[in-house]
Amino acid sequence: MDRLSVDHLIGIENLTREDIQLIFKTADSFKEVINRPIKKVPSLRDITIANLFFENSTRTRLSFELAEKRLSADIVNFSAASSSVKKGETLVDTVNNILSMKVDMVVMRHPNPGAAKFLSERVDAKIVNAGDGTHEHPTQALLDSYSIRERLGAVEGKKVAIVGDILHSRVALSNIYCLQKLGAEVMVCGPTTLIPRYMDQLGVKVEHNLQKAIEWCDVANMLRIQLERQDIKYFPSLREYSMQYGLTLDMLKSLDKEIVVMHPGPINRGVEITSDVADSDQAIILDQVENGVAVRMAVIYLLAAQIGRQ
Ligand code: CP
Repeated sequence: MDRLSVDHLIGIENLTREDIQLIFKTADSFKEVINRPIKKVPSLRDITIANLFFENSTRTRLSFELAEKRLSADIVNFSAASSSVKKGETLVDTVNNILSMKVDMVVMRHPNPGAAKFLSERVDAKIVNAGDGTHEHPTQALLDSYSIRERLGAVEGKKVAIVGDILHSRVALSNIYCLQKLGAEVMVCGPTTLIPRYMDQLGVKVEHNLQKAIEWCDVANMLRIQLERQDIKYFPSLREYSMQYGLTLDMLKSLDKEIVVMHPGPINRGVEITSDVADSDQAIILDQVENGVAVRMAVIYLLAAQIGRQ
């Protein structure tokens, strides 16, 4: 069986192009499984997975849980809000206590950048990063590129504009790594205050005009403004932001081509994207969510294969 070059999924930065292609090939088989009347395979019957969420989540949490159930893994769910973390227990102590109950893999979302890597160096379990602060959200980027491949036939050679709050977005950084490894051209677009200075060092184009960005791209990935991570004001008001950077149906109709519109969710309708765009045939937002289950099944399956009990 083909194997990943990494022991944990910490970020796309650590993956090779071959790793990503292996995940996609494996996800193709699982996508077929989850569209069958019986959506389950017995592959991970002897694997136990803990889902540790120290930050809010709807899509990622449900998607991982479904992926694990479809693979027949045993799962335990942990939410920081109702745990002994509130009583002062450290992350490593919390996880080691969970692991002593014979857990093989930990899927973790945490507000601190680097938390998944920190954990992978200190505990004896496979670690899957489900989003670490403003750093990386690797499975989101994998499902995003998988969805582009599904809609456009390939990622290689495509032009992708990532629009919005790049500064606070783990989705943006993971997408940049993933798209570039697969041979896409990447542009980031947003107000100067929300584009980090190091972007040009990553080899991406920088654009501050949304109309120009959508004229350039084949795919526009519209990101949410992360107000919860903004400690100062980066733009005058949400209304002003949406006037400059909100994607509307009129803008899409003004193009002499049809671009694909993506959004990782949760959507703020009327801010970064209007309702008619979000609900249009050009938007593949719900396809992204559907593909997330197959992609996460692939990641978990491939990491579990390294445990050697399958
Ligand atoms: N896309 C994403 O990570 O959504 P959630 O925060 O709901 O998991």
